[in-house]
Amino acid sequence: MRVLISGAASGIGREIARVLARPGCVLFLTDIQAEALWVLGEYCRAQGAEVQSAVLDVRDRAGLEAWVHQAQVLDYVFLCAGITGGRPPCDHYGVAVEREERVRAMFDINVVGVLNIFYPAAALMKRRRRNARGLRGRICVISSVAGFVSYPGTPSYGASKAAVDRLFVAMAPLLGGAGITLTSVCCGFVDTAMVWRNDFPMPGLVSVEEAVSRIMRGVRRGKRRVVFPLWLVVGSRLMDLLPPRWAERCYLRQPSAQPAGMPDF
Ligand SMILES: NC(=O)c1ccc[n+]([C@@H]2O[C@H](COP(=O)([O-])OP(=O)(O)OC[C@H]3O[C@@H](n4cnc5c(N)ncnc54)[C@H](OP(=O)(O)O)[C@@H]3O)[C@@H](O)[C@H]2O)c1
Repeated sequence: MRVLISGAASGIGREIARVLARPGCVLFLTDIQAEALWVLGEYCRAQGAEVQSAVLDVRDRAGLEAWVHQAQVLDYVFLCAGITGGRPPCDHYGVAVEREERVRAMFDINVVGVLNIFYPAAALMKRRRRNARGLRGRICVISSVAGFVSYPGTPSYGASKAAVDRLFVAMAPLLGGAGITLTSVCCGFVDTAMVWRNDFPMPGLVSVEEAVSRIMRGVRRGKRRVVFPLWLVVGSRLMDLLPPRWAERCYLRQPSAQPAGMPDF
């Protein structure tokens, strides 16, 4: 089994690597965190896996294209690299809206960074023969429940996650015909470094182990979308049916939607 993971040095990506590491597994791991990536590589080798790692920024399109191509054959791809954001403190006009640079970084990393691996990986998969089940490979992106709502606490994060979720779910039937399954994971809070800075209650927080077990089960079944916790997903979908001004009244009361309510990076 040959598996590529982005955002592998931390959180969900790291746990996927740890779960899969065993003899016979070749792991292609990438992240911008060099030291943590090295530590993970050593752990996975100790479990018997072969590891090829690369310290790359997902915004480096040419670097990623070259690195993905040298993998030659891929069975699974997990696109986990991502950043989050929140409302900064009010500026001197009394406005607390994300900084333009942060919004641009959000789209460059969470959306374009996904494409920078997705396209070369899908090209590799298309070239190989189908297996006995007619499959050529499986690609999974970690989206978010945040993509289901227009939440003022995390505008660009929600928009970036909505983009990759829509893209994957809409493309899934098209690539499915070519034997490549696409899965979008729309999860709520997962206990990783990404949320450790949040100093507000995180309803439905799940452990990274539980999250990865759900993700792996869904990906192996070829599910279009993996969602958890279900109540949060259903609640978010219902909130999004409300007229925006009604939903805002509820959202703007949440601690995480206050100016400086979530860490500004
Ligand atoms: N944790 C949650 O509650 C949650 C919920 C829903 C969806 N997600 C999504 O799940 C994915 C994984 O998140 P996580 O919770 O595992 O977060 P994490 O622990 O912060 O892991 C993300 C990894 O991606 C790396 N990364 C960030 N920018 C990068 C770039 N430009 N190029 C390459 N690597 C980069 C991060 O490095 P740095 O540490 O330097 O940033 C980190 O090592 C993300 O896409 C996230 O949006 C997370």
